[in-house]
Amino acid sequence: MKKFYIKTFGCQMNVRDSEIMVQILRSHGHQPVMDIADADLILLNTCSIRDKAEQKVFSLLGQLRDLRQKSANNQDIILAVAGCVAQQEGEKICKRMPDVRLVVGTQQFYHLPEMIERLESGQSAREIRCALAPDFTIPPFQKLFHAGMDQPGHSLPCSAQDQFKQFVTIMQGCNNFCSYCVVPHTRGREISRPATDILEEVRFYADQGAVEITLLGQNVNSYGTTNQVADIRVDFADLLYRVAEIDGIKRIRFTSSNPHDLSDKLMQCFKDIKQLCPHFHLPVQSGSNQVLKQMNRKYTRELYLEKVAGLREHCPDIALSTDVIVGFPGESDQDFAQTMDLLETVKFHASFSFKYSDRPHTRSASFTPKVAEPVKKERLQTFQARQDQISLERNRELVGSVQEVLVEQIHDQGIQARTGSNHIVHLGPHAHLKTGKFAMARITKAGMHSVQAEVEST
Ligand code: SAH
Ligand code: SF4
Ligand code: F3S
Repeated sequence: MKKFYIKTFGCQMNVRDSEIMVQILRSHGHQPVMDIADADLILLNTCSIRDKAEQKVFSLLGQLRDLRQKSANNQDIILAVAGCVAQQEGEKICKRMPDVRLVVGTQQFYHLPEMIERLESGQSAREIRCALAPDFTIPPFQKLFHAGMDQPGHSLPCSAQDQFKQFVTIMQGCNNFCSYCVVPHTRGREISRPATDILEEVRFYADQGAVEITLLGQNVNSYGTTNQVADIRVDFADLLYRVAEIDGIKRIRFTSSNPHDLSDKLMQCFKDIKQLCPHFHLPVQSGSNQVLKQMNRKYTRELYLEKVAGLREHCPDIALSTDVIVGFPGESDQDFAQTMDLLETVKFHASFSFKYSDRPHTRSASFTPKVAEPVKKERLQTFQARQDQISLERNRELVGSVQEVLVEQIHDQGIQARTGSNHIVHLGPHAHLKTGKFAMARITKAGMHSVQAEVEST
């Protein structure tokens, strides 16, 4: 049996996949450890969304290889790579890094225990080292978790105190093929999990005390159009109504959605479902129609602004966040000015912004002219500086209001909680508050990335 350590890079989907891997490995008798130095199976769950993300993985792999080669004791350590870099660069990793003994693709990680067993039993390493074949079936929840979940007091290590907040993957892959994006290549085509299975998983967490559920997919708005298994037919909005019926679930969140298929029916959910948090992450990527077209985003800036107006009409307090790419091939000063103008118009509460980077197999990798690195850097700084000011302005709007917050972490210095609108709230120490509990808090001070508050009642 192995003592394993998983290091996770990338998005929530990867974080969730790591949790599932922990669960599967535990259910086969392997033991998670908190310190990498104690592990004899080190698994990197990787991200390849941008060039930088991928470089990080290779540099860490180099360090681990050196560590492994340094002492005789370390020879037994199994170094394994999973996730999006594994899927994309699997063959290359196998060739370049003989120390890596297992490379597991994004659709193969359910078979991890079996692969470890085969490695341990001395089967030809070469045969099992690189498991990248597409396997579009997502095992049913019960099958995945059964063994581990039956044990009393089971918990996911690293997140034992986070049980009040759970993530549930509702679909895999993406069919959108935005021209810059590697995800359809690393995660494959889109598949929706059967609704009955998702609801069973949510019910299970609710029974265990979860109060918040985040539904995950690369493009949740198209949930239900790509089911493989015959099941109750529901679209994403229907799924939200059904999740809201589950006792104990007080907060529902989801991510991520492409604006082009954000339906009126989904907007209506923000009026109808009180558990649905007033926060929407709606990646815009660019404010220029010319760039959006090249990105194959399938919407215009006008349509995006219409969706924003629709959301605000249905839910006046909704907080909006977004993703932006600067320096896409061919992006002119005028195009970038359009992105800045859109930021000014919408005044997002928060945003994640990135310098464009070429990714393997994507269409935009061959687009020209490329934007020079210093220009990208300057545009990113300009965007981020203005976003910081806007975030501060937005946070100031909250000062004086009383908000319901969910306590997420308790430190010596104080308490960190979160509003439904996804604002991070710092509270002073409080005797009666525990993680996973709700409180009413009066916001007293605004910062750029969080606000301070005092507890009004618990
Ligand atoms: N499925 C999500 C996006 C997942 S990737 C969605 O469509 O909303 C997260 C973010 O990474 C994207 O929104 C985009 O802003 C950024 N990104 C993706 N590919 C990129 C690339 N090649 N260069 C720079 N940023 C990129
Ligand atoms: Fe990538 Fe576009 Fe799919 Fe998001 S919607 S994962 S950006 S291809
Ligand atoms: Fe990264 Fe893969 Fe997620 S590329 S962002 S880990 S889907």
